Amino acid sequence: MKNPLIFNLAFCVFALGFTNTYSQIKKLDVDISNSIAEIQPTMYGIFFEDINFAADGGLYAEMVKNRSFEFYEPKMGWAEPNSDRHSLNNNSGIARIFKYSDSTSNHNFARITVNDEQGYELINEGYRGMGVKEGENYRISFMAAQGDGNITALKFQLIGENAEVLGETRITPTTADWKTYDSVFRATKTEEKAKLKISFEGSGKIDLDMISLFPEDTWKNRKNGLRKDLVQLLYDLDPGFLRFPGGCIVEGRTIAKRYQWKQTVGPVQEREMQVNRWNTEFRHKFTPDYFQSFGLGFFEYFQLSEDLGAEPLPILSCGIACQYNTGELVSMEDLDPYVQDALDLIEFANGSVDTPWGKVRRDMGHPEPFNLKYIGVGNEQWGPEYIERYKVFQDRLREEYPNIIIVSGSGPSPDGDYFEYGWEELVKLDADLIDEHYYRSPEWFRENATRYDNYDRNGPKVFAGEYAAHPKGVDGPKENNWEAALSEAAFMTGLERNADVVHLTSYAPLMAHKDAWQWAPDLIWFDNFNAYGTPNYYVQKLFSTNSGTDLISITQDGSALTGQEDLFASAVKDSDKKEVIVKLVNTSKMPKEVKIQLNGQKLNSNATLVTLKNSDLTAENSFESPKNISPSEEKVKVNGRNVSIKLAPYSVNALKIKLR
Ligand code: AHR
Repeated sequence: MKNPLIFNLAFCVFALGFTNTYSQIKKLDVDISNSIAEIQPTMYGIFFEDINFAADGGLYAEMVKNRSFEFYEPKMGWAEPNSDRHSLNNNSGIARIFKYSDSTSNHNFARITVNDEQGYELINEGYRGMGVKEGENYRISFMAAQGDGNITALKFQLIGENAEVLGETRITPTTADWKTYDSVFRATKTEEKAKLKISFEGSGKIDLDMISLFPEDTWKNRKNGLRKDLVQLLYDLDPGFLRFPGGCIVEGRTIAKRYQWKQTVGPVQEREMQVNRWNTEFRHKFTPDYFQSFGLGFFEYFQLSEDLGAEPLPILSCGIACQYNTGELVSMEDLDPYVQDALDLIEFANGSVDTPWGKVRRDMGHPEPFNLKYIGVGNEQWGPEYIERYKVFQDRLREEYPNIIIVSGSGPSPDGDYFEYGWEELVKLDADLIDEHYYRSPEWFRENATRYDNYDRNGPKVFAGEYAAHPKGVDGPKENNWEAALSEAAFMTGLERNADVVHLTSYAPLMAHKDAWQWAPDLIWFDNFNAYGTPNYYVQKLFSTNSGTDLISITQDGSALTGQEDLFASAVKDSDKKEVIVKLVNTSKMPKEVKIQLNGQKLNSNATLVTLKNSDLTAENSFESPKNISPSEEKVKVNGRNVSIKLAPYSVNALKIKLR
């Protein structure tokens, strides 16, 4: 794939860099008249996976953890402070878990027994607490069936420290049949780690299930929807696609625990809860209370894609469990249901409402098709077992849906035997789009800006589906430091220069809860109230909101800028916005003066320079200083065809010039 000679030369030149190289004015040439390639609208997208509490406890705004008592320990997340299960008489009451006799997906409910006036309480701790804001409305909902005795009302209270009440509502149950109740109430005080307390009036028994609490103010004000601030951060990226639901979560640690999209659509109470595979994956970051409620399921992912103006890109199990775990295989004779899942998904997304799965979509409120164009088979599988299974999917999908673009995988690494083998075999199969994953050091990213320069222009296209620079020796949010982001930007000029081959790219993972993360670095960090974009986020945003429509050339003495003297560059034209955008990344600690000559079209005399910079490579954003590294803008003069600018040390720059 790569020409090793060119690669090594680039490396040697680069290896001089990241130092204090100071040089004379660089003369760069941009040719606006010649479109080298179309920049795909999908060029910069989003990779979403429910890792680090990204879905339950994050994007999905549900505040009650284990709302339907389905965790392995069915009362996990719930406390009964006044209840002594060992006491027969002197007990305020108790919640016992029962199984429905006739339910296949929602297995459990809680039967509450309340004894006379002894103050039985049931308290939910939320996802590392519940973020409650003064003056905001919250919707409580639950299913209940009255039993023996006389429980006349349930009181729901948000409580803070020392059980201070932050808002409450009282609901009267009315029937012995299962019924859903809901009520909206206002919070009177702000608290990051509130809890939900349920207390009871009267005594007797009542069955409860699906006890749920959402802020009323969600993204697009959808009832029981998504967290508004988090979706806004995604929206601001203007992503070309949304890949979901992962990542390894697609594969499962075992086949039985793989992600099954059919279990994530339809009424929420019927979506069968599943353990989250990141739950106990890392011993040093144990999260045993991490499950998937699937309140954010495939319908919601499609809807979110639509909201964001992004192409939906679902990835499905190919019949291999995560090869870092069990690597369990579905035998070839038993693969058919897995292929059928893929075919049915296309019907769910695109089929007419007269088809069985199109009808499910319609019943969920979306009769119009979602216009699915891509589907992924397997996440980062490797070896002959993958190729053998992938081929079965590809044959069937091409037969039934010849226009769907199929994403295949090249394993977890950007090189090595499995990677080379995967590519070779997928080329033989004439695959459409191959997903590559790389989590590497910042140096690697700077050294690999030429990675795609020698890829076959006539082979499969590339989906750089998961990548992030991982600085060594730090952990958590600190890994999202400026060195990592700057190095990714340098690398991304290489992605852009190769836009004829690279059609989709996405940083991974996307989100992390500051108190419940398993994997870092991540693009966005959040707590129960706030969220901020990392420097890496602003790099992604700078590229994705300035992606252009056509790749044009930028050279120095006829050569692309791939790190010579610490300078990286790419250029695009946007035919719709009628502008040229030149991206320049200076990875040196010295400033650089560049004189750019732009030929081929007349230019406006005013340009804008958008810059991300910091003199400290360890600098980061944080909850306290969320925009420490974020874009600044200045006006720049254009003299005829020429623009002179000074690039700050350690800076990422987008020079935007309107065409006349
Ligand atoms: O992004 C985190 C994980 O990294 C993904 O789940 C997996 O595909 C990769 O190994």
